[in-house]
Amino acid sequence: MRLCVFETEKEAANAAAAEIVRVVRNKPDAVLGLATGGTMEPVYEALVAAHGDGLSFSRVTTFNLDEYVGLPPTHPQSYRHYMSKLFFSRVDIDPANTHVPRGDTAPDRAAAEYEATLARFDPIDVQLLGLGGNGHIGFNEPGSPVTSRTRCVNLASSTIEANRRFFDANEQVPETAITMGIATIMRARRLVLLAVGERKSSAVKAMIEGPVDEAVPASILRDHPDARALLDTAAAAKLNHPEHTA
Ligand code: F6R
Repeated sequence: MRLCVFETEKEAANAAAAEIVRVVRNKPDAVLGLATGGTMEPVYEALVAAHGDGLSFSRVTTFNLDEYVGLPPTHPQSYRHYMSKLFFSRVDIDPANTHVPRGDTAPDRAAAEYEATLARFDPIDVQLLGLGGNGHIGFNEPGSPVTSRTRCVNLASSTIEANRRFFDANEQVPETAITMGIATIMRARRLVLLAVGERKSSAVKAMIEGPVDEAVPASILRDHPDARALLDTAAAAKLNHPEHTA
């Protein structure tokens, strides 16, 4: 896994966006794997700016990593809504080419259908990933099998707590989600993980310097032939050798 450490969160996010821009420039009908969460917001801002500068997404196909079970696409906290608001509605992408798991239908069937649709487009050219404070990728929580595919999962209590900030105080935070599996993610040609802030520094250390183990799902990315981690100095602060490739 290649490590790139940037001075600021903004620079790290811009570097993640630049990876996507490069792929779309070289391959206008690229298949992109996308992520949501607070970390990704400036990445979509930068991609919208790239579109303003002339980059077209009209032939691109996208697959998001995950979606909460129980939330319809119109729910303000659904990942479909996040994607529409921050990215899809602001560029020239064809909505028919955007895929986010359906959280409001029978979850097991929705997950199986998602995996089958994705298999028709394999491999994803570049997959964006955030990092959970507990080392999760997508919603593959600690203990997720390396062989896992898109499926319905229970969220860890730390994930439910971390996500509470996005929901109204009186709202129930979803406890289950549909996520691409670890094996699904590992099929992508290139993986770009973005982690910023001190809040992620322990997970970053475990991902890079701990054992490759299902207990820290992100550590498994080190077995991918083309994975890079883009960090800011705060997220990299606990690494012994931030200048080294893991
Ligand atoms: C979301 C996802 C999650 C987040 C992770 C970090 O699609 O896949 O793995 O990337 O929970 O979330 P933030 O960026 O909000 O800290």
